[in-house]
Amino acid sequence: MALSNITKRLHILIAISMICLVAVGIYMSNTETFFLYPIHKSIGAIVFVFALWRIVVRMKEGWPEPVGVAPKIQLIAAKVVHWGLITMTVVYPLSGLMMSGAGGHGIYIFGLEILASNYDEVTGKAVALNETIAGIGHETHELLVPVIIVLIIVHVVGALKHHFIDKDETITRMFSLK
Ligand code: HEM
Ligand code: HEM
Repeated sequence: MALSNITKRLHILIAISMICLVAVGIYMSNTETFFLYPIHKSIGAIVFVFALWRIVVRMKEGWPEPVGVAPKIQLIAAKVVHWGLITMTVVYPLSGLMMSGAGGHGIYIFGLEILASNYDEVTGKAVALNETIAGIGHETHELLVPVIIVLIIVHVVGALKHHFIDKDETITRMFSLK
């Protein structure tokens, strides 16, 4: 099936957001730049909604067919990376929401309250609603950093190989709107 405009629009929107969120996430947690946290969390929560929408689209439309003939190993690699990336688009925001929500920091989208925070009135510190869930969210968010970076690099290098070495339409058909 030809790639629909909605597939292409969701791909570009989620791709740019994910790359920025990974970069900002690593930067803000390493440098403890706290003003970036609510921006990171709000955009991450919005990406979650679009990622779920994209999954519905994939279920309805299927995956893109390869443009030309390619060695089996390359087709398998592309499939594994696509599955890995689409999984990341759900697991990353979900683990963030678990870390923040269950950790007592609440869930807010640019000030809009989805789940209230739970701060101790005396110390002003967040009191976890469920430490296990918050911990799993935090660990997942942290442990998957190298995985998502490798997946994105392999994916982009693969796409560039199609464009510059195979000289096929893989990139142009994904980025051109009808
Ligand atoms: C500069 C960055 C990127 C480029 C150039 C790029 C390019 C492409 C291209 C050309 C395809 C179509 C492959 C085919 O026809 O078989 C594709 C599909 C896909 N890309 Fe990317 N991509 C980028 C970033 C990302 C990122 C950051 C993610 C997710 C975190 C992502 C996830 C996917 C997925 C899941 C597919 C499968 C089709 C779909 O669900 O839309 N891509 N990408
Ligand atoms: C597509 C969505 C998201 C991506 C790709 C993403 C990515 C990242 C990355 C790569 C880090 C750095 C982790 C580290 O270096 O240990 C990070 C940190 C963080 N993210 Fe996300 N994130 C997303 C969504 C969210 C959401 C929805 C929330 C909460 C509502 C959230 C909350 C946080 C917090 C609190 C940190 C800092 C953790 C710390 O200081 O140890 N993220 N994120």
